[in-house]
Amino acid sequence: MSHKYMKYFKLTLLAGLLFVVTFCFWSPSSSVGVNIHRRQGRLGQKLFNKKIENLTFGYPDIEYHIKDDVARSLAQNSCVCLPGEETFHIPFSNLLFPRVWAHNLQHAFLENHPDPEIVKRHRAQEYDNFQRRVYSPADMLNIAEANSPLQYPTQGVEVQPLKTILIPGLGLKQKEKSNYRVHLTATLGTFNVAATVDMVSVVGAGKKQMMLSSPLLSSLNRQLQFVTYTNAVFHPKTADSIQFATEGHQSFFTIKVGHRIVPKLYNSGHSEEYNITSLVTIATKTFLRYDKLQDLIDSIRQYYPNVTIVIADDNEHPQPVTGPHIEHYIMPFGKGWFAGRNLAVSQVTTKYVLWVDDDFIFSANTKLEKMVDILEKTTLDLVGGAVREVTGYTATYRHTISVEEGGPDGDCLHFRNGFHHVIEGYPSCVVADAVINFFMARTDKVRQVGFDPRLSRAAHLEFFVDALGSLHIGSCSDVIINHASKIILPWSKTKTQKTYEKFRYTSVGVDKNLSNEIYYFKNRFKCMTSQ
Ligand SMILES: *[C@@H]1O[C@H](CO)[C@@H](O)[C@H](O)[C@H]1NC(C)=O
Ligand SMILES: *[C@@H]1O[C@H](CO)[C@@H](O)[C@H](O)[C@H]1NC(C)=O
Ligand SMILES: *[C@@H]1O[C@H](CO)[C@@H](O)[C@H](O)[C@H]1NC(C)=O
Repeated sequence: MSHKYMKYFKLTLLAGLLFVVTFCFWSPSSSVGVNIHRRQGRLGQKLFNKKIENLTFGYPDIEYHIKDDVARSLAQNSCVCLPGEETFHIPFSNLLFPRVWAHNLQHAFLENHPDPEIVKRHRAQEYDNFQRRVYSPADMLNIAEANSPLQYPTQGVEVQPLKTILIPGLGLKQKEKSNYRVHLTATLGTFNVAATVDMVSVVGAGKKQMMLSSPLLSSLNRQLQFVTYTNAVFHPKTADSIQFATEGHQSFFTIKVGHRIVPKLYNSGHSEEYNITSLVTIATKTFLRYDKLQDLIDSIRQYYPNVTIVIADDNEHPQPVTGPHIEHYIMPFGKGWFAGRNLAVSQVTTKYVLWVDDDFIFSANTKLEKMVDILEKTTLDLVGGAVREVTGYTATYRHTISVEEGGPDGDCLHFRNGFHHVIEGYPSCVVADAVINFFMARTDKVRQVGFDPRLSRAAHLEFFVDALGSLHIGSCSDVIINHASKIILPWSKTKTQKTYEKFRYTSVGVDKNLSNEIYYFKNRFKCMTSQ
């Protein structure tokens, strides 16, 4: 019995460790560009894991006795699809005591599918990519080996709300004494032991404070391997700060409390080459320019005959826009630019959304496959292209944005022309914080940021300010779309106009005030600088 449980403990921990290892590949760096492929390297990962394993499973010779009730409450990493048991049967018992029912999704969905194996493989691959994107080294288990007498996990301990885990890596290293003693204190949960060890006294099991003591250091260390933590205060995403102390020494570490991240994967079918129709939706907002919009649609159809086009329209007198794979959404008159972007993006069902203005024209250089490729292979969430003006001038409108702490009056926002670094393997692509109005993005990530619908006219950079710190943004100069209008846009302005651009945010009317309010109040800036 006890042997079986120990095996399980080890498996649970090892599964966690292996999980971490799978995301850490060592890849040699190159002198040109920075590698932002999803595989992040970490040198000596195997050695590191061996060390953690050693620190976690020492003293195999010391006996222990499983405490069934605590051991059973430990989270298991393998759920099975079974309904709750019916304990008794009386009329209407289902209404009085609703039973837990189970619906086998795998069976239900794959049953009618012509090729279930391909679906499974595709889902596994999408999930793998998702995990590589969300992985952070800060989530990895790490243990501070005792150089004060205390050994404890410094990071990487996680528990689901109201669930129980074993705390890995606790230990004590001390000189000969007659009695060894440690204290554990939590704020949002309680401690217990999943097994007991002879010659160790445990006081406060099931409480927020627990004390362990023993005349034998090795027995105390063995006992520390079975210490459990149970979260007691529900919060979907928080952390408990744990104090671990012995006479004259104390340490603190955190246990993250949170639900597992539920991924949002797109079932885009599987093919050797990128299927733009199933991966991308083109979104645009139109106002007063139906002739331009028709030219855009015609140009898209030359290269992508079946791709879905979503159009948000806030004209006063809307005209029909028809054709296959077109969704035309009429909005109240003059709702504006960002409201239109929000509406269009909200209707997208594909993994990626491509934003275009209604006066852009696709050409042979508008290779959406290139954008899909870089989004598939790197951690980028959004990638901008280039817009070619009628004059032949091509712009990428790359900016960096930074926020400088500014005290009680607010922070300072800095826009600068340029980018952070070139992307390895994509010589025409760079990483930046803001890009041009022609970009492709992960649909779910853009929705997370959203477009502030109050911004009805000259808005663009505001979205990228909201996205700062949550979207990884790139720009590729070799995916080019043509601009049909002669209307002058920010990136094609003359010197005088650029000077004007500096004061764009202090221009006339309602928008001036709104932009000021958004930056001052919503984003809590006191100052903005720009080139
Ligand atoms: C782990 O422990 C084994 C045996 O106890 C030892 O041979 C090995 O060197 C240790 N590894 C590390 C990384 O400490
Ligand atoms: C591409 O995707 C579309 C829509 O999902 C589908 O109808 C089409 O057959 C796919 N094309 C290929 C070549 O797989
Ligand atoms: C577009 O759809 C039509 C009709 O469904 C199909 O015949 C054609 O092969 C598709 N074209 C592409 C490039 O997917």
